[in-house]
Amino acid sequence: MIDHLLSRRAALLAAATVAAWAGSPARALLLAADSIASPAWLDALLARMTVEEKAGQLTLMAAAWAGSAATALNPPSGNASFDQQLAETRSGRLTGVFNGNGAEMAKRMQDVAVHQSRLKIPLIFAADVIHGFRTIFPVPLGEAASFEPDLAERTARAAAVEASAAGIDWTFAPMVDIARDARWGRGIEGAGEDILLGRRFAAARVRGFQGRSLTDDDSLMACAKHFAAYGAAESGLDYSSVDVSERTLREVYLPPFKSALDAGAVSVMAAFNEISGIPATANEWLLRGVLRDEWKFGGLVVSDYTGDEELIAHGFAADAREATRLAFLAGVDMSMQSGFYIRHLPDLVAKGDVPMARLDEAVRRVLQVKARLGLFDDPFRRIHPERERTRIRTRDSLALARESARRSVVMLRNQADLLPLPKSGRSIALIGPFADGQHDLNGTWCVYGDDRQACDLATGIQEKLGGSARLSVTQGCGVETSLAGGIEAAVAAARAADIVLLAIGESASMSGEAQARTSVTLPAPQQALAEAVAATGKPVVVLLRNGRAMALEGAVRDAPAILVTWFLGSETGRAVADILFGDYSPSGRLPVSFPIESGQEPYHYDHKPTGRPNPPGDAPQDYKAHFRGILNRALYPFGHGLTYGRIHYSDLSADPRMDWDGPLSVSATIANQGDRSVEEVVQLYIRDRAASITRPVRELKDFRKIRLAPRSSQVVRFTLRRSDLLFVGRALEPVVEPGTFDLWIAPSSEAEGVHGAFDLVR
Ligand code: BGC
Repeated sequence: MIDHLLSRRAALLAAATVAAWAGSPARALLLAADSIASPAWLDALLARMTVEEKAGQLTLMAAAWAGSAATALNPPSGNASFDQQLAETRSGRLTGVFNGNGAEMAKRMQDVAVHQSRLKIPLIFAADVIHGFRTIFPVPLGEAASFEPDLAERTARAAAVEASAAGIDWTFAPMVDIARDARWGRGIEGAGEDILLGRRFAAARVRGFQGRSLTDDDSLMACAKHFAAYGAAESGLDYSSVDVSERTLREVYLPPFKSALDAGAVSVMAAFNEISGIPATANEWLLRGVLRDEWKFGGLVVSDYTGDEELIAHGFAADAREATRLAFLAGVDMSMQSGFYIRHLPDLVAKGDVPMARLDEAVRRVLQVKARLGLFDDPFRRIHPERERTRIRTRDSLALARESARRSVVMLRNQADLLPLPKSGRSIALIGPFADGQHDLNGTWCVYGDDRQACDLATGIQEKLGGSARLSVTQGCGVETSLAGGIEAAVAAARAADIVLLAIGESASMSGEAQARTSVTLPAPQQALAEAVAATGKPVVVLLRNGRAMALEGAVRDAPAILVTWFLGSETGRAVADILFGDYSPSGRLPVSFPIESGQEPYHYDHKPTGRPNPPGDAPQDYKAHFRGILNRALYPFGHGLTYGRIHYSDLSADPRMDWDGPLSVSATIANQGDRSVEEVVQLYIRDRAASITRPVRELKDFRKIRLAPRSSQVVRFTLRRSDLLFVGRALEPVVEPGTFDLWIAPSSEAEGVHGAFDLVR
């Protein structure tokens, strides 16, 4: 729960630097009120503000501080100097900045805000803290592969502890967009294709960022983004149009946002895309109807980067003034980066095109959020040069980076138990563009992390094996280019070794914002390298680096062992070595289905059955739903992942009848028949066989990661309730209908596991 009450005591205990701030009008008004929830201080403060100062509170800009991280991340837009930003702060025309650099910058800006501006309203500092701050954890999609929301909560907490020390109050995370199309580059920032997994990770990350209380100096305000359906872009092309039914919106794309808000997220970012003709940034139905009226969201809505300005390019607004009016009246409280609000809101209010009451409503939300973050209490509470130095990359945070990294790796294949490898006695050729070097370790949306501080594969493996290891490292080719003599050198290295570790995949810049791909395959030079190395006949372990589901081909698809290693962050090499050499049994599961071919995208396991499903089996049948020559199923489906154990599912126990009001308890026995201790992700799926709205072929309803000692078994029990069987009915309201449901407890979304059925009886 987030504190709604401001601690007066904290204010009284404020440090010396805050003393001068004590005379501030804004703070005095707040202290005179009983709590920040009370409208009295806000009313009094609003009464003192000019319209321009109000518009200033709704204007957020990229930090202009020299060398600011912001400049490297987003397209240039506006070119304010730091001095200009200080001047804007002094005149109350700026609410805060984002993606700035550190406590020193924040201190200089906050000093101006609270000592030199008329009303002394503190600035807010925001940043894209997506998967770590200086300690970098796996990219969010990779971490979702852990199927451990608790782990995501812990890494979000650790990120908040580091970032808050550098003066950051607000993170533009979590990204909770469901991503069903591997071509889209931004799937890497979320939790994948599944609704339930998306909801659980959304809530966990919010809890982690926001901590126990927003006022704590190590808490960050979370921002659920991008509202909404950003991941449903036509053909996976980033920023492209979305045309989605309200039913699919409510059933697939909105639930993770609702979970994030239920977990306490205080802000929401409007998406770039249009939805069925209306850009999300000007979508009143979405931002006011759903978010405010239905969900009762009381927090702050911020635009995405120039999202309001982009209404013009969308062909939705004729000019800047109209774009401002449309975005603002639709419910975007704060404008990011265009400067439209400060430029046009005063005039829009003066001419009566925007009611003053609506302006006050938005400003009230911003001030309330600043108060809840404790900024009126102590504007410097998160600006702490000493903590900024000592709280980063601690032994504990790096240990967590290693733990989260190894929990995120997914083993797709392990023929003849090629893995784990013995720690001695075999010579190893580590080959590929990701074999070594301080690049492509942290992955995209890593504003403050440094690849140079991350552990690469060669280092991690060398450390694990010690000085006597027989390890050769050969690049073979670049990520998207050939190297003169590269393949020859790689083939020679493979021939000289007992085993090949092939480190191939995508570079960090091949996924993330604006990085849509038409074909989710390996770049040709790497495929050629893989074919040549495989032709030596040496056993190959593929270590795939990737920011999306990929379509594996040829020698890569056929390699006897394949590990999906995403972008694992600070401890990449050590975590992968832990798995390769058996110190940790892989326990990750795919949060996105790997298709057989790119052309199947958007492929997701929970698709509808069609009227002509291809019958079970491997043969495509005429006039049934499949592509020419391939079945429409995954090469490796959502939920798939192997361990070093031998896992067997048996003994489904489920009552054949579920009463309308009664829960249904279902269980299965999961046995590890292998000799190693492992963790298994046990998944519960259902299918509603016949309903008034067609239902997916399978839906995940619960999952649990269990630990199994060698040669042991466990009965895993789930409880299904009627509420788990809800769907969005004809009237666009949640409904449940009596009838027959299939039920699986299985190791993946397309595996049989154990299968039964029950009737829901009214
Ligand atoms: C992205 C957001 C991000 C913002 C600020 C935009 O381009 O879509 O996810 O938070 O930039 O960096």
